Amino acid sequence: MNDADVDAERPNGKPILEAAGVVKRFGGIRAVNGATLDVREGSITALIGPNGAGKTTFFNVVTGFYRPDGGRAAFQGDQILGARPHAIARLGMVRTFQITKALARMPVIDNMTLAAPDQPGERLLNVIAHPRRVRRREAEVREQAIELLEVFDLARVAEDYAGTLSGGQRKLLELARALMTRPRLLLLDEPMAGINPTLGRRLLDHMQRLRADEGVSFLFIEHDMEVVMNHSDRVIVMAEGRVIADGEPHEVRTDQAVIDAYLGSGTVVEDERA
Ligand SMILES: Nc1ncnc2c1ncn2[C@@H]1O[C@H](COP(=O)(O)OP(=O)(O)OP(=O)(O)O)[C@@H](O)[C@H]1O
Ligand SMILES: [Mg+2]
Repeated sequence: MNDADVDAERPNGKPILEAAGVVKRFGGIRAVNGATLDVREGSITALIGPNGAGKTTFFNVVTGFYRPDGGRAAFQGDQILGARPHAIARLGMVRTFQITKALARMPVIDNMTLAAPDQPGERLLNVIAHPRRVRRREAEVREQAIELLEVFDLARVAEDYAGTLSGGQRKLLELARALMTRPRLLLLDEPMAGINPTLGRRLLDHMQRLRADEGVSFLFIEHDMEVVMNHSDRVIVMAEGRVIADGEPHEVRTDQAVIDAYLGSGTVVEDERA
């Protein structure tokens, strides 16, 4: 995977998400302090930066979970900053969210089918007036759910309560649930954290496949530089609430502002292959 592949499919590499001057304050803290960035359509873009840089807060603002204090953001050309999470999700930008207590008390398979949008069976009138259509859609949703559970090695626990899964399995279920909505841009906050390397590998492969087969774009927060360098085609770097660098992996690795930001934080940015 490299930029040339992406650009061959989408010659203008047009942005799917454009954020400008995004601000989010918590009391006196400016967690996001004028962040400006673009995510190119069809890219797998990594968002990196030292702890507390504002990465997670940025995700929460652009997906509608936090009210912004300033800035603009457009998804596929539609202004979305300040819109409700479900409205943004419906447009096709989805982030994973934790399995809540209520979902933990439900079987894995139900967690999946509930995440699918536009199910005619949600309306009682449809169940009465169009029973066959409802059953057909339900069967489709279930099939899609099982396929995804198989990809993430969760099919064998499909009937177990989500609350009984291990931490790693839960993370995979969160991702699988997000995929049930058929997003155009998926935002992942440290997807590899807490899952074993084999499943991590599978998750990365699945991201590549979704990009290749369905043109899904990804923006993922990741601390593991080996993963960032080898599995993203663009890297955006945040520090202190702002974007301080943006480019191909090899470009940001040698960027002085990036090195300084990480040195200041006490963590080291390095390519583990070197
Ligand atoms: N709900 C909140 N209330 C108050 N302060 C918050 C809240 N969420 C985040 N912050 C603060 O905002 C800043 C940015 O936090 P954020 O979690 O966005 O960073 P991050 O880049 O995701 O860091 P990490 O890599 O450690 O996950 C931090 O100073 C954090 O303490
Ligand atoms: Mg975070």
